[in-house]
Amino acid sequence: MRLEHVSHQFDGQLVLNDINLHVSPGECIAIVGPSGSGKSTLLYILGLLRKPDQGTFSMNEQDVFDLDEEKRRLLRLHEVGFVFQQAHLIPYLTVLEQLDLIQENKDADAKQLLVKLGLEHRLHHLPTTLSGGEKQRVAVARALINSPQLILADEPTASLDYENGRRVMELLSQQAHREGRSVVVITHDERMLDVCDRVLRVIDGTLTEVNS
Ligand SMILES: Nc1ncnc2c1ncn2[C@@H]1O[C@H](COP(=O)(O)OP(=O)(O)O)[C@@H](O)[C@H]1O
Ligand SMILES: [Mg+2]
Repeated sequence: MRLEHVSHQFDGQLVLNDINLHVSPGECIAIVGPSGSGKSTLLYILGLLRKPDQGTFSMNEQDVFDLDEEKRRLLRLHEVGFVFQQAHLIPYLTVLEQLDLIQENKDADAKQLLVKLGLEHRLHHLPTTLSGGEKQRVAVARALINSPQLILADEPTASLDYENGRRVMELLSQQAHREGRSVVVITHDERMLDVCDRVLRVIDGTLTEVNS
């Protein structure tokens, strides 16, 4: 996917200023930057949840903001997976039911995915009985169940301790490296950056590559 010359403002304030970003299949990139610098705004644009004031965003050589609303909705549904800081699980559904609810392809193997994420012993548990790390891994599974080509995560480790955060970051980067997805993760935690291929910093609305 590719962003070109993307700018966006809120209330006359320029939040993103001529952003260019290319993420290849198989690549995991991290985005860092101070609070309020526009990281989430950038991620919402990538997630087709917000149309930028200016610039283009293409997936599979197609300008997605050129598509009509319905085509864009379907693209978002099929090709984008989101993970947030909190898992936001549905309180009265078991782990397996959380995935069944949104699974599009009846043959997609939710159980197998949950086993891969280390949740084999939690399939029939309700969210209240899970640890923070387990809940977040269910949120990752939910983002992956429909095999999206683009996986977006907004501070997915912020509510976890180091070990659990690390595990979630590794699962995300594996999606790029083993499954060929494009992964974009916003993180505050410098200790997690090594699992990503590139680190980009948002400063004053622009995106700069950080050298390791
Ligand atoms: N829906 C909105 N309406 C008005 N201002 C917004 C909105 N969303 C974000 N902003 C502003 O845009 C700036 C960037 O916000 P955000 O993208 O959430 O930054 P970050 O994720 O880096 O903390 C902030 O100044 C924020 O107040
Ligand atoms: Mg944010």
